[in-house]
Amino acid sequence: MTTIEERPVATETEAPARAPLDAAAIRADFPILDQSVNGHRLVYLDSAATSQKPRAVIDALDAYYRQDNANVHRGIYALSERATAGYEGARVKVAKLLNVNDPHEIIWTRNATESINLVAYSWGRKHISRGDVIVLTEMEHHANLVPWQLLAQEKDADLEFIPITDDGVLRQDVFDVLLRLKPKLVAFTHVSNTLGTINPVEDMTRRAHEAGALVLIDGAQAVPHLPVDVQAIGADFYAFSGHKALGPTGSGVLWARRELLEAMPPFMGGGDMIREVHLRRSDWNDIPWKFEAGTPDIAAQIGLGVAADYLRDLGMDRLRDHERDLVGYALDVLPREVPGIDLYGPMDPEIRGGVVPFNIPGVHPHDAAQVLDRFGVAVRAGHHCTMPLHERLDLGATARASFQCYTTRDDIDALANGLKEVQRLFGV
Ligand SMILES: Cc1ncc(COP(=O)(O)O)c(C=O)c1O
Repeated sequence: MTTIEERPVATETEAPARAPLDAAAIRADFPILDQSVNGHRLVYLDSAATSQKPRAVIDALDAYYRQDNANVHRGIYALSERATAGYEGARVKVAKLLNVNDPHEIIWTRNATESINLVAYSWGRKHISRGDVIVLTEMEHHANLVPWQLLAQEKDADLEFIPITDDGVLRQDVFDVLLRLKPKLVAFTHVSNTLGTINPVEDMTRRAHEAGALVLIDGAQAVPHLPVDVQAIGADFYAFSGHKALGPTGSGVLWARRELLEAMPPFMGGGDMIREVHLRRSDWNDIPWKFEAGTPDIAAQIGLGVAADYLRDLGMDRLRDHERDLVGYALDVLPREVPGIDLYGPMDPEIRGGVVPFNIPGVHPHDAAQVLDRFGVAVRAGHHCTMPLHERLDLGATARASFQCYTTRDDIDALANGLKEVQRLFGV
């Protein structure tokens, strides 16, 4: 018998591998996947646009409307108490997913777009003035670009951009140069929704802080796919959308440090965000409710809490392993099976999330996506809300396949087969 002392000590290289996700079993949790489209098995490869929802989330929405529907924080009766407990309990679940200690630092919004607008409007209007610099990147989704354009126009502030290399990696050397301008804010995406690039968020946050800037991270494509520990990252604001993270549409999150949130003025005025209202002035509620004016999407946030638990139960490390494997597989198989295909973004799966943009030369991506749909394969085509990035890469549009826990290597094979049909049909 082996005693504890005799057991070999696991070194870093010998550490037992995590058990891989059983994507086939996971698929059984997603009822929508059990259908055919145009006579073929549905192959859903558009999870970066919105993810599918597990049965647990769908059941939570159903149960809420069947049993608990009432307004929150208001009624002194059983239904309202249950609705409030579900709504506030979901905050605790999302806090755990992000490794946030204080659930009051979790602000419910409708989506990442609203979270970023909240910061631009509330923090930005108070702290940004004429000539101040805000640093963004060339790979931002419009949601992390347009709110800053609006603020910069209003305040006569300057926007500067970290450029990318041709294979879609941020130019950290130029970031260092931009930091010498002493920006007030640096805002960047954790994972690019178009190229899949995983940015070195901890390092960038540290350097931005050393230069005296606050940091906002757009985590819309990170929280659903890899472990996110906002304490370890150390940023000031972190935003994401629930609907991309297996949760319902209408659920979203802004996390920020308590002292920042307490010092920020409200975003919208109305019910629930106040403590006392008089005809000519009002006092604000505590955080997070100061930022949650009006009746929220109660069911959606409850559903997001269930999604957060589902993701934690899967294990975010295992989900990341799964997607790293899928990206490696796609980057290997697609060029071999679909000769001539153009792929974009970093070719190293270590710094790439589950997003694979591509073009078939001679075929518009919309046409390619339409042909793929005939084979049940759903991909997105267009500019994916990153027009400046497409401009930088000199591309009108791209098609994009994107993955989630329920995606399998078979799905990527189906994409490759569909693309061969595209090439055959268009004679390219
Ligand atoms: C990186 C990134 N940021 C922000 C958004 C905006 O998300 P939403 O439309 O849910 O607000 C998206 C959506 O695609 C995204 O991919």
